[in-house]
Amino acid sequence: MGECRALSRAEALQLAPPDWQHACHALLYAPCPGRLFGKFPLRFAALMQMRFDGRLGFPGGFVDPQDVSLEEGLNRELHEELGPGAASLHVTEDHYLSSHVPEGPRRVVTHFYAKPLSLEALRTLEDGATQAKEHGLEVMGLIRVPLYTLRDGVGGLPAFLSNTFIGNSREQLIHALDTLQLVPREQLQKAVTMTQK
Ligand code: APR
Ligand code: MG
Ligand code: MG
Repeated sequence: MGECRALSRAEALQLAPPDWQHACHALLYAPCPGRLFGKFPLRFAALMQMRFDGRLGFPGGFVDPQDVSLEEGLNRELHEELGPGAASLHVTEDHYLSSHVPEGPRRVVTHFYAKPLSLEALRTLEDGATQAKEHGLEVMGLIRVPLYTLRDGVGGLPAFLSNTFIGNSREQLIHALDTLQLVPREQLQKAVTMTQK
């Protein structure tokens, strides 16, 4: 997908349906102790998904006209894509991070949220994900993002960032890893530079 432009939540809400569609997606993450092979710190469990179109993205989707707010639309989508475990998630405006519009002619505003969970809550969500209405349809599977870099300097996060992502979700991921301090900045910058798209 092409370039996109950030705008404030207030500006984004001026872009009204039916001319504009709104979509909301969320990063769900939890502190995750432990080391891969006893060496590489896992740091956090951060969830993304393999989508129906073969691209990686965050759970979430289009807000419907029936949804009374962006967050109600987001929580409905999370329930459809993550299953019954998402009923207790309650992502709110407090978890809002950013809004973007594409530079091209497409009239879709994307809103992005991030919510910290306990590792136990995140595991419960993973366990129930195959019960989701959209499992095997819109969602081909939940995945955790590798947040470490292996000794070869490529395996782990750099290789992960070389995948194909929907919309601006790669940029959303990098920005969230930085602002939420889920990966040390120097290591993140190296991973990003290596896989510049
Ligand atoms: N950043 C920016 N844009 C994104 C992101 C993201 N992280 N993730 C998805 N999008 C875009 C997609 O390109 C899509 O056009 O937002 C829009 C809605 O997101 P989806 O999660 O794909 O929408 P959802 O409501 O879950 O359902 C998928 O969309 O393409 C249709 O017919 C298809 O019914 C299907 C539906
Ligand atoms: Mg959906
Ligand atoms: Mg979706």
